[in-house]
Amino acid sequence: MKKLLSWSDRADLLAKALSGDGVFLVVLNKDGKANAMTIGWGEMGIVWSRPVFIVLVRHSRYTYSCLQSSESFTVNVPGPNTLKEELLFCGTKSGSDIDKVAACGLTLAASEEVNTPIIEECALHYECRILLRKQLEEVDFSSSKILQKYYKENDHHMLVIGEILLSYAEDTS
Ligand SMILES: Cc1cc2nc3c(=O)[nH]c(=O)nc-3n(C[C@H](O)[C@H](O)[C@H](O)COP(=O)(O)O)c2cc1C
Repeated sequence: MKKLLSWSDRADLLAKALSGDGVFLVVLNKDGKANAMTIGWGEMGIVWSRPVFIVLVRHSRYTYSCLQSSESFTVNVPGPNTLKEELLFCGTKSGSDIDKVAACGLTLAASEEVNTPIIEECALHYECRILLRKQLEEVDFSSSKILQKYYKENDHHMLVIGEILLSYAEDTS
């Protein structure tokens, strides 16, 4: 059973997961097939008076091309110390070569507000409608340290802002 949440209710679980083994970002490709990629960078907050989830995806990722054609994404947060192997797999293999969801034995379930599915085995879910895509470029940075450290190979992130339409968690009560 899923319990509906206000967008910021389980920010603690999200923050721990992002700074630990990561969370699953699910996006549909142009043929409507779901790909899961592990992300460790992301933020949740208010923009344009709406609750949003912001993800940063490098140009080289297969997910990058999916995000360009898709209208939505879901963020799926595993419970503490679960799905570690699956997170590593989805964070090191590419959906351009392999169906990662099937390879990991993960279960996709229909979302309620968007056409991108969620991963059922996760404890917390965010359904997001894409509002903005912004490709970052060298000129956008005021810190040369960050450029040196993270963008030596010119593989800049695209910043994607999704409005959180719905969030819910596994009801453990
Ligand atoms: C813990 C972890 C966090 C990651 N965070 C990000 C991220 O925030 N943004 C990103 O572009 N890649 C990130 N990656 C790398 C991608 O998950 C990885 O390149 C993946 O294979 C890309 O999958 P895709 O080609 O199917 O999109 C992360 C990997 C791991 C293991």
